[in-house]
Parts: sequence; C-alpha cells; structure tokens
Amino acid sequence: MTPFQDQICDNQQELTQRVRVMKPTELMRMPEVLSEPDNVGDVPIPAYLSDTYTWAYLKPSSIKIFDHNWVVDTILWGNNRRLQKTVFESLEPATKVLLASDVYGDLAIRLAEFIGPEGHLDIVDVSPVQVENCRKKLKNVDHVNVRQDDLAYLKNCQYDAIVCFFLLHEIPDDYKHRVVAALLENLAPGGKVVFVDYHKPGPWHPIKGIISLVFDTLEPFAKSLWSSEIRDFAADADLYRWHKETCFGGLYQKVVVERQ
Ligand SMILES: C[S@@+](CC[C@H](N)C(=O)[O-])C[C@H]1O[C@@H](n2cnc3c(N)ncnc32)[C@H](O)[C@@H]1O
Repeated sequence: MTPFQDQICDNQQELTQRVRVMKPTELMRMPEVLSEPDNVGDVPIPAYLSDTYTWAYLKPSSIKIFDHNWVVDTILWGNNRRLQKTVFESLEPATKVLLASDVYGDLAIRLAEFIGPEGHLDIVDVSPVQVENCRKKLKNVDHVNVRQDDLAYLKNCQYDAIVCFFLLHEIPDDYKHRVVAALLENLAPGGKVVFVDYHKPGPWHPIKGIISLVFDTLEPFAKSLWSSEIRDFAADADLYRWHKETCFGGLYQKVVVERQ
C-alpha cells in the first residue's frame, strides 16, 4: 500500500466514524462513495447549519447578498474594523495561522496580507459554497490554503494562532464544546486561539432589546454566549491561560486562550 493509499484509508475511516454519530436525516445527505475529505462537497454538512443557516451560508445567492464589507459592518453596528483590529493585535506576521471558517467581507484577505508570504494561512469551512468563494477571493495568494472540513474534526495540525471570528454564536452548544476542544488541541506549544464573538451587553445597552429579538428569531444558538463564558465550553480549561476583554458596552468579546 502506498503512503497515498494510507492517507485515503485514514480519511475513509474518519468519515465512517462521522457517519456513526450522524442523525438519519443527515445520513440521507451523505454521498454514496466516501472519498478524500479535501475534495469540496465530500464532507457532510452539519444538520444545524442546513436547518438554520442555509439562507446565509449554503447558497451562492447568500454570497451576493452578504459578502460585502458594508453589510458586515452594518450587522456589527459599525464595529467591523475595530473588531478586526483587535484580532491583528493578538497575531504576529510570518506565523502559521488558521481562520476557523470563512467570514464575509475582507477579513481573510487582510489576514493573508498581515501574515505575509513568510507565514501560512489555512482557512477551513464546511460549506462548499463558502470554500469556493474564499478560493476566488484569495486565488493568487500562494501562502493561503482554503479547504472544506468540519472544524469539530480538525486534527494533526500545529498552529501558532487560530482566529475564530463570530463562529461560536452560530453553532449549538454540543458543537461549541467540540469545536473549542478541536481548536485548542491543534495549537502548537505557545500557540493561541483568538475568539471574537457576541457577549451579554450591559442591562441598559440601547440595542440589547433589538439584538435579543434578532437572536430569538434568527440565531437560536447565540444566547448561550450571554449565559456562559467561552472557557465553559473547554474540557481542560485549566491547562490554558484565558484573557477576556469586552467592547461596545459589553456586546462583543475577545477571548485569547494561550497554551501554557
Ligand atoms: C464564521 S461564521 C459567521 C461569521 C460572520 N457572521 C460573517 O460575517 O461571515 C459562518 C461560517 O461558519 C461556517 N461553519 C459553520 N459551522 C462550521 C463547522 N462546524 N466547521 C467549519 N465551518 C463551519 C459556515 O459554513 C459559514 O461559512
């Protein structure tokens, strides 16, 4: 057996394990032939994503509507640049970085520029439409690799830094546990994860009511970030150093987790 065949077998085995933990409705969506996960379209889409966010992430028309800086900035109440800046403040150029899922707007492009050709940027997203779009956005950038995978199954990587920008509020709590664990497990010694996401705003925050309504209507997994800390989703939280700061009246948080 060649090393390449070995790799395919590993991937087959992993996909078979994933099938065992999937619901019957998800199984119906599985391709008949299990093949290498790096081939876009082969990785199963988690049920929460297709059930809740098809309109936002799984259709080509979503890209046309949402993939503009002004749209992201509107959704973030004018804070997009400020929140991106806080990410860059925690990173170093010329390092190996993972962007945990694609983000609408120019974050991936700016991250690639910031890291520079001396470093490397991986972008992993489970949506084939997002992967294809992100590859187009970064098509002539050699130090970037975009691939389809489910972050809950990330393994065998050693990143200096992982950026997780507004992903956690869009995944159910059991998946929050799995994704946080997978990100922490794939840090190099001394590496860090930078989470930027929603946080419970102060009681008199002028837009708390609107945000609450948006979450209740469109974002069913978001409010657990109001009642729990991100570190509550980590299994071995004490093995890491945690630093949290909030901004915009507490509506947003940045949590930097460093592997000791
Ligand atoms: C980063 S989050 C939302 C970010 C922000 N709302 C924006 O402006 O794009 C959305 C992305 O997460 C991806 N995603 C959701 N669950 C995932 C998972 N388990 N593994 C990898 N990508 C995932 C979706 O496909 C989508 O592209």
